[in-house]
Amino acid sequence: MSVKRALMVGIMAVAAVVAVCGGVIWGVQAQSSGVPHAGAAPGPQSVEKTAEQQFKNIQVLKGVPADQIFPTMTFIAASLGVECEFCHVSGEFEKDDKKPKQTARKMMEMTVAINADDFDRHREVTCYTCHRGNSKPAAIPPVATEEAMASMAAPRKPEDVKKTKSSASPLPTAEQLLDKYVRAAGGAAAIEKVTSRVMKGTIDVGEKSLLIDIYCEDPEKRISFTHMPEGDNITAFNGHEGWLGVPGRPLREMHGSDLDGAAIDADLHLATHFKQMFTEAKVVGTEKIGGHDTYELVGQRDGRPPIRLYFDEQSGLLVRLVRFGETALGWLPTQIDYADYRDADGVKIPYRWTLARTSGRFTIQIAEVKENVPVDEGKFVKPAPEPPEGPGK
Ligand code: HEC
Ligand code: HEC
Repeated sequence: MSVKRALMVGIMAVAAVVAVCGGVIWGVQAQSSGVPHAGAAPGPQSVEKTAEQQFKNIQVLKGVPADQIFPTMTFIAASLGVECEFCHVSGEFEKDDKKPKQTARKMMEMTVAINADDFDRHREVTCYTCHRGNSKPAAIPPVATEEAMASMAAPRKPEDVKKTKSSASPLPTAEQLLDKYVRAAGGAAAIEKVTSRVMKGTIDVGEKSLLIDIYCEDPEKRISFTHMPEGDNITAFNGHEGWLGVPGRPLREMHGSDLDGAAIDADLHLATHFKQMFTEAKVVGTEKIGGHDTYELVGQRDGRPPIRLYFDEQSGLLVRLVRFGETALGWLPTQIDYADYRDADGVKIPYRWTLARTSGRFTIQIAEVKENVPVDEGKFVKPAPEPPEGPGK
C-alpha cells in the first residue's frame, strides 16, 4: 500500500471513540470511558454526540457515540475485506444508493439479534465471525486441494497446543511475569528515573522508508515527526489530547480508543504501570512469536477493552502488546511487536517495533536514543483547532 494511503487509513482508524453507549442494543460489551488511563482529564470532545445527531442517515446505529462511527465502519470493512466504496457512494456516505449498504443494515440487526437471543446479550458473534474477510461467507467446507490445505490452519503439533493449568509445566502467575519484566527492563528504580526520551530512526511503510524523530516526556507526552518530501507527518499526544497532522490537510483530533492507545505508547514507565492499570490479570497460555516461546497475559481494565501482553519465556521482556478499540459491532485490534531490545542508560528498551492494524502496518527502527535530555515544551502544545470537516476524507 502506498504511504499516502497508509497514512489516510491511519487517520481513518484514528477517528475512534468511546464513552458509555446509551443505546440498549449496543450496551452489550464493556464500554470504554474515553479517558486515557492515567487519570488524565477528559478533553472537550468527551461531550458526547450520538451518531444520529452528527450524521445524516443513521437508522440502525442509533444511540452509538458519534465518534464510534468511523471505527465501526473500519471494523465492517475489515470484516468483509472490502473498501468503503463497496457500500458507499464516494464522499456521500449518507446516500443509500448501493445495495450492500442496505444489506449491511439488515446484517447489523441480525447480528445484534443473534447475540441477544442466543448468547445472553454477550457480543460473541460479529460480522467477522461469518465473513472472515469475504463479502460472501462460505457455506460449504472446501475439499482437500493443495491450495485449500495451504490456506487452512495447519494441524496443530502437540508442542503448539497452548499450555493450560493442568499441563505438566504450570504457568507462572501474572504477578511473577510482570515482576520479571520490570527486572529484565532494568528494575523499577531505573525505569522510574527516565523523564524523557528522544529517538531518531526510520519508519518503513509499505515499500517506503522515511526518517522519523520521536520525542517522549513524562508524564505521557509523545510526538513523532515522519519526514516526507512534502512535509512532516505528525502524531502527537500531550497527556490529554492527541492530534494528527498530514501536510496539506487540516489537523485531525484523536478520540476515544486512539487516545487510550496514544497514552500507552507515550508512557515511559509502562513496565511499572501495568499492575495499577489492570483490575485483574491472568496468564492464559503460551504462544510462539518470532521463534520465541512466550506467555500470554490478559489484563482487564475498568470500562475498557482488555490488553493482551506476551512475555518472552527466557528473557522476560515484552515482545507483543495487543490492545483494542471499541466499536458498535466489535473490537478493532492494534498489535505492537517489540524487538531488538538494547540498553539505553540503564533501561532495556526495544529499538524496533511493528505496529499493525486491520488497515495496514509500519515498522520503526531506532538508530539513536537519548534519555533524560530536555525536550522543548512547545512541541506538546496543540496547534489551534480548525473548523470541523465533513465526514470521510
Ligand atoms: C458493508 C457495508 C459498509 C461498508 C464497507 C462501510 N460502511 Fe459506512 N455505513 C454502512 C451502513 C449500513 C451505514 C448506515 C448505518 C445506520 O443506518 O445505522 C453506514 C454509515 C456510514 C456513515 C454515516 C453517513 C451518514 O451521514 O448517515 C459514514 C460517515 C460511513 N458509513 C463511513 C464509512 C467509511 C469511512 C467506510 C470505510 C472505512 C465505510 N463507511 C464502510 C455500511 C458500510
Ligand atoms: C451469521 C452469519 C453472518 C453474520 C454474523 C454477518 N453476515 Fe453478512 N452475510 C452473511 C451471508 C451468509 C451473506 C451472503 C448472502 C448471499 O450470498 O446472498 C452475507 C452477506 C452480506 C452482505 C452482502 C454482500 C454482497 O456481496 O452483496 C453484506 C454487505 C453483509 N453481509 C454485511 C454484514 C455486516 C456489516 C455484518 C456485521 C454487522 C454481517 N454481515 C454479519 C452472513 C452473515
